[in-house]
Amino acid sequence: MTPDLSATGQPGRFRLGALLGVLAALLCGCTGGQATAPYTVAVGGSPHPGKQVIAQYKCGSCHTIPGIPHAQGVFGPPLNFLGRRTMLAGNLPNTPDNLVRWVMSPQSMKPGTAMPDLGLDERQARDVAAYLETLR
Ligand code: HEC
Repeated sequence: MTPDLSATGQPGRFRLGALLGVLAALLCGCTGGQATAPYTVAVGGSPHPGKQVIAQYKCGSCHTIPGIPHAQGVFGPPLNFLGRRTMLAGNLPNTPDNLVRWVMSPQSMKPGTAMPDLGLDERQARDVAAYLETLR
């Protein structure tokens, strides 16, 4: 019997393709699965009360924020996908700490920024940050 090259070649290619597919699925699965939970834990707050703080302080008068009724402001940047952003306010790394500090006191993070300090305490800021981290 002469080996049929096209028949032996194909499965090899299929196997490589399948392996790459599994690898890609694993990589996506890892980042997708791990990214949400640790952020919420890292900011030490809870998204649900965070939503109420956002409504109470009227963040939506300046920002468009998914999931917050009437939050359709256009003075500041939209907060869509905030949990997936690399940077905050242009040049601050979007780490949980920076996000909490930004929400508490943007003026101390970036003096002169158009976002005013709104007087949130740390508990409120952590809850707000926990909610914003869910925006992915
Ligand atoms: C008076 C309008 C105003 C209000 C009210 C306001 N912000 Fe902002 N916010 C801004 C502006 C303007 C920026 C952009 C600042 C910059 O880049 O220097 C900003 C930036 C941000 C950013 C960074 C966004 C990005 O794309 O990098 C976050 C997060 C944020 N605000 C959250 C909040 C939260 C939470 C509240 C309510 C507690 C709030 N803001 C209330 C005007 C406002």
